[in-house]
Amino acid sequence: MLTTETIAELRGHLADWRRSGASIALVPTMGNLHRGHLSLVEEARRQADRVVVSIFVNPTQFGPGEDYTSYPRTPERDAELLRQGGVDLLFLPAAGQIYPPSDKPATYVEVPGLSDELCGAFRPGHFRGVTTVVCKLFNIVQPDVALFGDKDYQQLTLISRMVADLDLPVRIVGMPTVREADGLALSSRNGYLGSAERQQAARLHAILRDAAARLKAGATNYQELEQQACEALISAGFQPDYVAIRAADLALPSADVRELVALAAAWLGRARLIDNLQVSR
Ligand code: PAF
Repeated sequence: MLTTETIAELRGHLADWRRSGASIALVPTMGNLHRGHLSLVEEARRQADRVVVSIFVNPTQFGPGEDYTSYPRTPERDAELLRQGGVDLLFLPAAGQIYPPSDKPATYVEVPGLSDELCGAFRPGHFRGVTTVVCKLFNIVQPDVALFGDKDYQQLTLISRMVADLDLPVRIVGMPTVREADGLALSSRNGYLGSAERQQAARLHAILRDAAARLKAGATNYQELEQQACEALISAGFQPDYVAIRAADLALPSADVRELVALAAAWLGRARLIDNLQVSR
């Protein structure tokens, strides 16, 4: 596996591969890799001839007081996992490669509206940081295909929208959430959970499963479902930011919508957990 910290060197390798006709997949990450990331890598290998993984803890998607400085950084372990996973190139940008030294880009890419709802309402500026960095990574790597996890459903929806709106020549592939045996969605932030919290954490998935089952059975009083799921989360020891029932494109759903998604974000100690379940009915 090649590793590079500079855009110039990365582009040299990419140009060589393109000359030989190879297609390129990109898996953007913030590191501290788990089986969820590795499932993206595995699929990337099926989708393209060469696989590039980026690891960059993106400062512009963290708000003031969020966990940017304490976000887990495990580059050596990550590199070993990626080597074993058959990745061709690890892009680990050095300071100053992605943003100017102030860490504040002069140009942002933003999908208005949806960026300020759901998680965006609780993390102002977060999605603007995500779409900006992902757009920059697409421009740097110019991949044929890029892969993201369904766990960050709103992120995936916004990135797909950005790609469509800006005619970016990349195919976006969403991959199913990878879970622990008890249903907890894998996340780098699960490491913030103490052992008692870790036991409680799976309730988030169970409560969403319950809401999803009721949607599947035909429930259309979405507000009542959201309210009951919030109450169940509070009883299970969480502090919910929100539970929301939305149409698959994250629009507010009418009663006859068939493709739905139940989403939640909730705090357990210092971990902010998110999860979602898609429902077809
Ligand atoms: O999902 C993530 O890890 C990040 O939001 C991403 C897409 C790598 C952008 O920094």
